Amino acid sequence: MEYTDILIAPEKRITLSNCLPPPNSEETVAEIIQGINSVPPYIPSRFFYDGTGSALFEEITRLPEYYPTRTEKAILRENADLITGDLENADIVELGSGDCSKISILFDAIPAKRRETISYIPVDVCRAAIVKSAETLSRKYPEISIHGMLADFLKHLGDIPGENRKLICFFGSTIGNLDPVQTSRFLLNISKEIQEGDQFLLGLDMVKDISVLEDAYNDSQQITAAFNKNILNVVNRYAKTNFNPLLFDHFAFYNRAESRIEMHLKAMEEMYIASQYLPAPVHLEKGGTIHTENSRKFTSGDIREISELTGLKLKQVYSDNRRWFSLVHLVR
Ligand code: AVJ
Repeated sequence: MEYTDILIAPEKRITLSNCLPPPNSEETVAEIIQGINSVPPYIPSRFFYDGTGSALFEEITRLPEYYPTRTEKAILRENADLITGDLENADIVELGSGDCSKISILFDAIPAKRRETISYIPVDVCRAAIVKSAETLSRKYPEISIHGMLADFLKHLGDIPGENRKLICFFGSTIGNLDPVQTSRFLLNISKEIQEGDQFLLGLDMVKDISVLEDAYNDSQQITAAFNKNILNVVNRYAKTNFNPLLFDHFAFYNRAESRIEMHLKAMEEMYIASQYLPAPVHLEKGGTIHTENSRKFTSGDIREISELTGLKLKQVYSDNRRWFSLVHLVR
């Protein structure tokens, strides 16, 4: 596999490894083309996160309607001492790290002396997000070494470096983006990575009142709409398509049977999508939709099932008093 090692600042103990194929690689283009050529068309949600998309998502996390991030952070703050315990000589891995505000809560709970023995390994598909958070964190916690990985957590878990004890964090309920097959595959891979003494911390957004769920994905400032439409800019760049994001409506709703928020883009008029990589232009009729994201919501039964799939021991489930979000702590 391709694996470039880029040293950002060796004197500061910051490195960045790249496991991703280039955006214009055959692999990436084929993945996008397969999606938009399907009936109905879809775009894999990891393509949301270019620089603009990651910044828009950060804006989403601050919206009044988008409760998950602030709820999960409050749970982390409340339980950071318990979670970090006497953690030392350990690698803290964060999958889909995005901005670094959640991991900071854990770092703050570790005494400075012990922080010197900790490495932080952010794993994300967005280079800008990793670089920015590495810079912020190295200023705030100069004693922590940072080894960023530009990688897809579905494909590259096996490339995570380090022989130390591991705490793998997967916050934000990002696991809810995966379909059932991807979810069980991912959890089996996690299980392989987690050795005796290692820990896994998993954030899950819980099933709740439908209006609360739907409002979180239909904010009054239309930031989620902008985030959704931006995926078309990413696709245009990668797969040389000619989507006009202005001709699409944001469409998000709760699918009760599947326990998930679905995000789609709805064509406001009939159109043909062309690309040199498409065998033939894709026809979208007026009102036709492109599926861009699933965001599954979980129950306590799901927590038990997930724990069983990993084969790990359920140490604790941390939650808020409304039970809107859960942080599941699993150990080997
Ligand atoms: C980052 C995947 C957890 O599903 O809630 C936010 C992404 N999409 N608003 C989520 C998202 C629309 C978010 N995750």
